[in-house]
Amino acid sequence: KKVVLAYSGGLDTSVLLRWLRDTYRCEIVTFTADVGQREEVEPARAKAEMMGIKEIFIEDLREEFVRDYVFPMFRANTLYEGMYLLGTSIARPLIAKRQIEIAEEVGADAVSHGATGKGNDQVRFELGYYALKPDIRVIAPWREWDLNSRAKLIDYARRRQIPVPTDKEGEAPYSMDANLLHISYEGKALEDPWVGPDESMFRLTVSPEAAPDKPTEIVIAFEAGDAVAINGERLSPATLLDRLNQIAGANGVGRVDLVENRFVGMKSRGVYETPGGTVLLVAHRAIESLTLDRGAAHLKDELMPRYAELIYNGFWFSPEREALQTLIDGTQANVTGDVRLKLYKGNVIVTGRRSPKSLYDQDIVTFEADQVYNQQDAEGFIKLNALRLRVGARRG
Ligand code: ARG
Ligand code: SIN
Repeated sequence: KKVVLAYSGGLDTSVLLRWLRDTYRCEIVTFTADVGQREEVEPARAKAEMMGIKEIFIEDLREEFVRDYVFPMFRANTLYEGMYLLGTSIARPLIAKRQIEIAEEVGADAVSHGATGKGNDQVRFELGYYALKPDIRVIAPWREWDLNSRAKLIDYARRRQIPVPTDKEGEAPYSMDANLLHISYEGKALEDPWVGPDESMFRLTVSPEAAPDKPTEIVIAFEAGDAVAINGERLSPATLLDRLNQIAGANGVGRVDLVENRFVGMKSRGVYETPGGTVLLVAHRAIESLTLDRGAAHLKDELMPRYAELIYNGFWFSPEREALQTLIDGTQANVTGDVRLKLYKGNVIVTGRRSPKSLYDQDIVTFEADQVYNQQDAEGFIKLNALRLRVGARRG
């Protein structure tokens, strides 16, 4: 019996590790992923070694995360419930996938994660596991053990000499999840949806009030639906998002405070920082506005909430999400060109767009005399469209 544990090295997963060993007496393999959480992943190795772990996997998944998960999602201009850029949701399938691959490599028959029994993350991890390895055994300690409060968890850790971060070391007062796309904050003081977040909580963005009085202007280049360069400098997906996070964060861009509907049925208040993603969303829409046909663009917009919900609910590895992805990707071949934006005190303002593949035709739209558009045609167009309205109005 062998289990692959998604291990951050933090208190929760350290307790998890110990609990797994004591409860299941199984061999444990740890897997720590760098998805851009801006925290050293190497310390997880020493901690796992201290617990007697022999097989330790520590991997940098940043490029794969942005290239194969974040960028495909942004091709759809994805937002959950109109507000949430899905920063946590989109990282879970990647972690689940690597965990299953590792399980296969080391011959493990089970996987385990540190998500609670009340949230979305458990669903996302486990739907991913089952989709990729139908017979995998899943151990979700938070649903099994009786350490249902933070106090009990800390007590359990102390009694077993597991190092507990003291208040001085600044144990985060919120439940946080960080990666290259975002940081999320939930719980504690934020559980009252009327209570505003404390300014000191934020890590990726300055407040709009504290942002510079002068705007920052940038040009983002797109190729076939994906951002490829900033101000003419070609960057890899992860480097590009990292760079955008810095520029946007410095201008107070990307804070969102919302109440969302969790898949498991409850409402939950979350605060998010998604600086680079917020800019990418606006910029991608701007380049699509020049290069996408109206019918294709509107169809994408109709399907987007459905696509967002699939990702939020953990169905990344599902036939319907893959079918939608094929459709979305199929619209992106000509989504190429430059978008110029101004970032200013929390705002993202498009000031220009251009494309070699543009459908925008100055000769057609102009108010000057032209050849292709006969204004007389508009009369019949309007009359036929009005027909049923007139019939209806006559009936009264
Ligand atoms: N509510 C967000 C979501 O469902 C963020 C979850 C954050 N997860 C965490 N383990 N802190 O995607
Ligand atoms: C958790 O419950 O582990 C975090 C919150 C969520 O997954 O929605």
